[in-house]
Amino acid sequence: MIKSFKETEFDFSVEETSYLSHSLHPYPAKFPPQLPKRILQQYGVKGQTILDPFCGSGTTLVEARIFGMNAIGVDVNGLSVLLSLVKATSLTQKQFSKIEAFISELKVQISKWKTLGRPNIKVKEIEGQDHWFQKMFQKKLRFF
Ligand SMILES: C[S@@+](CC[C@H](N)C(=O)[O-])C[C@H]1O[C@@H](n2cnc3c(N)ncnc32)[C@H](O)[C@@H]1O
Repeated sequence: MIKSFKETEFDFSVEETSYLSHSLHPYPAKFPPQLPKRILQQYGVKGQTILDPFCGSGTTLVEARIFGMNAIGVDVNGLSVLLSLVKATSLTQKQFSKIEAFISELKVQISKWKTLGRPNIKVKEIEGQDHWFQKMFQKKLRFF
């Protein structure tokens, strides 16, 4: 049976919106995760699949996974697709450990760079780089 929502049930102004992967990257016109969460609690069916054809940064997809549903997202924006994939895909313990190790190593390298200066990494030249990038930005791009 379809229930109706009272207007007050959609006031999320005092709620925390950045939990789990929700605040991984800024995205315009994000809605609070509590919105799809509330709707899923009312209408969702665990084990079923939800389709968000305008998935944006994946808020609904993340909430669907938390709720126990499969989630499919589509978006015309490639950044949105990447964000949604990263935010809504569960990691295995092995993958999680690999990322943790990578972050630890990165922290070690960054602290070394802070004292010894940036390493002189040779990176392949970008075709037309003098046309597209000023020298200072070429240096920065090469570093990262
Ligand atoms: C406000 S976001 C949607 C938020 C999303 N439902 C969520 O859970 O966070 C709107 C999205 O619609 C996408 N969009 C607009 N027109 C579209 C189209 N014709 N086909 C696919 N995506 C589209 C935009 O790229 C944008 O990411």
